[in-house]
Amino acid sequence: MATRVLSGTRPTGKLHLGNLLGALENYKKLQGLDAFFMIADLHALTTEYEDKTKIAENVMEVVIDYLASGLDPEKCTMFVQSEVLEHANLALLFSMITPLGWLERNPTYKDQLAELKGKDLHTHGFLGYPVLQAADIAIYKAEKVPVGEDQLPHLELTREIIRRFFHLYKKQVFPEPEAVLTHVPRVPGLDGRKMSKSYGNCIYLGDPSEEVTKKIKTMVTDPARKLRTDKGHPEVCPVFFYHQLFNKDQAEAVAGECRDAARGCVDCKMQMAAKLNEFMDPIREKRESWMKKKTEIRQILDRGALRAREVASQTLKEALQAMGLVS
Ligand code: TRP
Ligand code: SF4
Repeated sequence: MATRVLSGTRPTGKLHLGNLLGALENYKKLQGLDAFFMIADLHALTTEYEDKTKIAENVMEVVIDYLASGLDPEKCTMFVQSEVLEHANLALLFSMITPLGWLERNPTYKDQLAELKGKDLHTHGFLGYPVLQAADIAIYKAEKVPVGEDQLPHLELTREIIRRFFHLYKKQVFPEPEAVLTHVPRVPGLDGRKMSKSYGNCIYLGDPSEEVTKKIKTMVTDPARKLRTDKGHPEVCPVFFYHQLFNKDQAEAVAGECRDAARGCVDCKMQMAAKLNEFMDPIREKRESWMKKKTEIRQILDRGALRAREVASQTLKEALQAMGLVS
């Protein structure tokens, strides 16, 4: 049997380069295995429960970004989390055995509470976010979970819940999953901090090329290079980081010229923006073409949910049996 893979993305907006390089690249690599990729709309509700108007729209955006970045619905299963009710059911079962302390100590929980101050996140659902994520993974008995490095604490909690399930019920229903990281788990945004929607420093997969060029013009560079004659330090410059990704052949030359003050930052940015746009062109084209095929997308998701339910309902049965609810 092929290795089972599962991952998901919250539909809270369009996907950006950080999502692509940090996780989606690996979705693409692993899609030939027995792979499930969901749109985690229930997880989006944990923080967006007050504004339900955008979720459905954002689900569409994420599927389009999935397809545009190279996921092939013939190779993998794409579905919407809330359309496979077994996730919620297994999450409830897991909630019985998950100690509150594990959830309260979760670093992501603490960070998010501090960061999303405008929202009331003192809810059961938000605290239980990792329990639902554990269920997402376990319900497919997934062994590999391609994610960005920010998800590592959630993966660890998933393993702990699975180990506790085994310890309590002596049945190995679920394998312990492992995270699969890309070679660029942390992509800098325009301001040099980690690219993140909440920082407003993103390049989105759907950004037109003029927009990308405009954004790159505002990107921070080596702060020590105040004058054109100041020698630069490419290793601290996010523009150079991008050269290494999208202008590989010339990256070494770029670094040398930067150190010798033989190139200006404006030219350096324009050269990089051109390469980045070359990389993004095919994604943009596919995005445009999928935007016109909403009916087809709906069919892909319907088929996906059907296939997902087949696997999920079987696993749920095994979990209920292990817990003594059915024989
Ligand atoms: N928490 C993940 C994120 O914010 C999304 C997610 C939900 C997920 N369920 C998952 C990722 C299961 C991997 C596996 O990116
Ligand atoms: Fe960065 Fe290029 Fe300027 Fe060097 S020349 S600091 S690599 S933008």
